[in-house]
Amino acid sequence: MTIHLSRRFAGNIPDADLKAALCSTIDALCIAAIEISDLCALGPLAEGLGAITGDENADGDTQKELDVQSDEIIKRLLQKVPVAYYASEEEEGVNTFDPSGPISVAADPLDGSSNIDTNVSIGTIFSIYQTVSGKPEASFFRRGEEQLVGGFFVYGPQTTLIMTAGDGVELYALDPKSREFVLADPEVRLVENKCEYGINASNSRHWLRPIRNFIEDCMAGTTGPLHADYNMRWVGSLVADASRILSRGGLFLYPGDGRKGYENGRLRQLYEANPVSFVIEQAGGSATDGSKRILDQSLNDLHQRVPFVFGSKEQVRLVARYHDRPGFLGSRAPLFSPRGLFRT
Ligand code: F6P
Repeated sequence: MTIHLSRRFAGNIPDADLKAALCSTIDALCIAAIEISDLCALGPLAEGLGAITGDENADGDTQKELDVQSDEIIKRLLQKVPVAYYASEEEEGVNTFDPSGPISVAADPLDGSSNIDTNVSIGTIFSIYQTVSGKPEASFFRRGEEQLVGGFFVYGPQTTLIMTAGDGVELYALDPKSREFVLADPEVRLVENKCEYGINASNSRHWLRPIRNFIEDCMAGTTGPLHADYNMRWVGSLVADASRILSRGGLFLYPGDGRKGYENGRLRQLYEANPVSFVIEQAGGSATDGSKRILDQSLNDLHQRVPFVFGSKEQVRLVARYHDRPGFLGSRAPLFSPRGLFRT
């Protein structure tokens, strides 16, 4: 095995065959991740990884060479284990491998591809479900709550794997000498109530009222209605932003906005929001679309997008209040209005 899974891992799955299939699938994903991590580490020495292929993926995003290669690597390795169906953010439909396999995998093979050329952390996100026999789409058209395992690899200064099987979150790190994933933290817990948020602020003119109000109040710091100085961090790779939040708390927001095609934000429910939400909740945090829990939401399109807010429970709850109670905190009082005393 390429990963030393903890004894506890997937202990809540009573079916021994299913558990064995799951562990071999995770091992295959780890082998794929090592190959992808090697490619990322080559950077400029591997010609054209950040080059645009000239194609768009199923979501209309520009495809980079590394997106395509990562997808091919994962496909090759998942065909060696009992995986019936594979859905990829890079592809339109579902791949069928071994129709009798009990496992189905959804993946974003290379998350954060706009950062490929910039030597910034990128990753692979995955979500594992029990196969609905003979039904490729139905194996994925279900609530995120039904995931067996959700997690992501980060290719950064360290190559790490953060995942959950529904009984807490574990962090594994790739030992570059043995080329194995070793358990580094058996119980990842999210710090509560850190006043730090991440959002692509260049979209602020498109934001809807609740998000606009919330961010304005964060920026007002101790002089505003939240009475706290907020810090801001935005990497632009979901895996890296999620990793940071898991290690030091805070909040991530990719809301829907007024741009055409961004009514539900940018991130995909199946490939990104479901697995990250599973991890965040299991680490003690929350994940919503602004007000409703992500893992409760149904899915009827493989590439469905969803507004995504996650992080420390208290902070996520605060954002929900801005959505559910428009007059929340009375912060639109004259002092904070567009022509108020505290506006420049
Ligand atoms: O979905 C891909 C992704 O790169 C995420 O990793 C990241 O959070 C987001 O898009 C960044 O979007 P933007 O380019 O709007 O900052």
